[in-house]
Amino acid sequence: EVRFEGVDFSYDEKSGPTLDGIDVTVPAGGSLAVVGPTGSGKSTLGYLVPRLYDVTGGRVTLDGVDVRDLDFDTLARAVGVVSQETYLFHASVADNLRFAKPDATDAEIEAAARAAQIHDHIASLPDGYDTLVGERGYRFSGGEKQRLAIARTILRDPPVLVLDEATSALDTRTESAVQEAIDALSEGRTTLTIAHRLSTVRDADQIVVLDGGRIAERGSHEGLLQEDGRYAALVRRDTQPAHAAS
Ligand SMILES: Nc1ncnc2c1ncn2[C@@H]1O[C@H](COP(=O)(O)OP(=O)(O)OP(=O)(O)O)[C@@H](O)[C@H]1O
Ligand SMILES: [Mg+2]
Repeated sequence: EVRFEGVDFSYDEKSGPTLDGIDVTVPAGGSLAVVGPTGSGKSTLGYLVPRLYDVTGGRVTLDGVDVRDLDFDTLARAVGVVSQETYLFHASVADNLRFAKPDATDAEIEAAARAAQIHDHIASLPDGYDTLVGERGYRFSGGEKQRLAIARTILRDPPVLVLDEATSALDTRTESAVQEAIDALSEGRTTLTIAHRLSTVRDADQIVVLDGGRIAERGSHEGLLQEDGRYAALVRRDTQPAHAAS
């Protein structure tokens, strides 16, 4: 279970709070989608779980234990983060994946890549899993990197996931490959998704709308549509042809 209890956060004392009085619980195995305008604090909220930053007020707990009381190894094993800013070492694709689980067999690595919908692409490269990547090697696209990050996280197998979805539009095929990969990854884990895609949000057990660092609305997709507030407006905007094309 991931719980935010009266969480406040500021990047620095001079600027105002980035998060202000956040209370939300994601039950074990449940899913939370966080939506809201740019700059509302969504990514920041996600950062507090793996302690990329620490709260300035309140606390974040995993199964009731303050994340600040967990040792670094335990926290790193418990929480996986998937964002599009995945770092690839100048090494082979296989080594980049094995980094997540040093004792993984080739079969395990391939299985993770298949589940993450990136195996076929890797297999199509001239040197397959031996292809050198990173700064001076083969360059994967944003959507491909994201799927490599998913494969790594499948290998690491953490019970809690923080997913920061790409804001940039992916083409329809990549989009559905990434969606399948994320579905495979989320299965049976507690997930907190910073959601930019309506499909992710709709399927979440719980939705929170952030605005200016505060929770403006919360509920299920259906419930929030009925409330006809900010969430309903976001959904209307997202389903307008003009927006979909941009
Ligand atoms: N490292 C940082 N130092 C100072 N301020 C920051 C830092 N990172 C983010 N902020 C500020 O905190 C606020 C919340 O940022 P955050 O990245 O959490 O927003 P977001 O909701 O994820 O936005 P987006 O939808 O654009 O990803 C913004 O005003 C942002 O400028
Ligand atoms: Mg963000």
